[in-house]
Amino acid sequence: MKNRPIGIFDSGVGGLTVAHAIKQILPGESMIYFGDTAHLPYGDKSEELIKFYSGKITEFLLSYNSKIILIACNSASASAYETLREEYKEKVIMIDVIDPVVDYLAKRKFKKLGIIGTKRTISSGTYEQKIKEKSPGTDVISLATPLLVPMIEEGFIYDDISNAIIRTYLSNPSFSGIEALVLACTHYPLIKNQIRKFFDFKVEVIDSSATVSAMLKNILEKNNLLNDTGTAKDLFFVSDYTPYFEKIAGMFFEGNINLTRADLWS
Ligand code: DGL
Repeated sequence: MKNRPIGIFDSGVGGLTVAHAIKQILPGESMIYFGDTAHLPYGDKSEELIKFYSGKITEFLLSYNSKIILIACNSASASAYETLREEYKEKVIMIDVIDPVVDYLAKRKFKKLGIIGTKRTISSGTYEQKIKEKSPGTDVISLATPLLVPMIEEGFIYDDISNAIIRTYLSNPSFSGIEALVLACTHYPLIKNQIRKFFDFKVEVIDSSATVSAMLKNILEKNNLLNDTGTAKDLFFVSDYTPYFEKIAGMFFEGNINLTRADLWS
């Protein structure tokens, strides 16, 4: 049981930022990662389609005996998490990237905070609804920032293009007075420093990697599932392979990785 892998999935390579954080605090764990590169971006898809894709991927990760499954994508967490958790509750523990952040925000008791994410994540209203339940006194301003994912994937991270796009989105007057900004997309940690700089380091910029990996560790400890066998091995699958995906995967994971194509749909 203990040496079974942690299953992780995302629409593509963004979830590797979370996988990287997990590897840092749980180096003894095996990971099996699935990036649905054939169907990305999820941020523009409907809730129904994301639920369908996420269900198939969950079955794939279960076929590799995952002891826990993490949805490392905000768009999929916002659209499919509650349904999948209920459907698979007898088979596997499922966690998402939204609830740990919402729990963290409840401890911090901010008066006003901003959220940026994909169109799907923002239009779902999932963050707002969950924050309202746990932090009723917090004023939440959400903004879809769809250009950020292709911008990051094309490598525009610390230059004139990225600065102009970040500035255009974040100068939105409704963000005035925010104490914190939630990066509700697993791609965004790559531009976290530029965003902090935009706010003159006066706004706390929160991404899910730290809270999610800490929660995952906690769950494994509580359920006596930590891998102490010294047999860690990671596998990275994608539904469509190109050398370019492999190149940017390395950028998100902060280390070279080999991607293997696994076609779940034909
Ligand atoms: N990484 C995905 C997320 O966290 C965004 C990328 C996409 O739209 O597929 O929402």
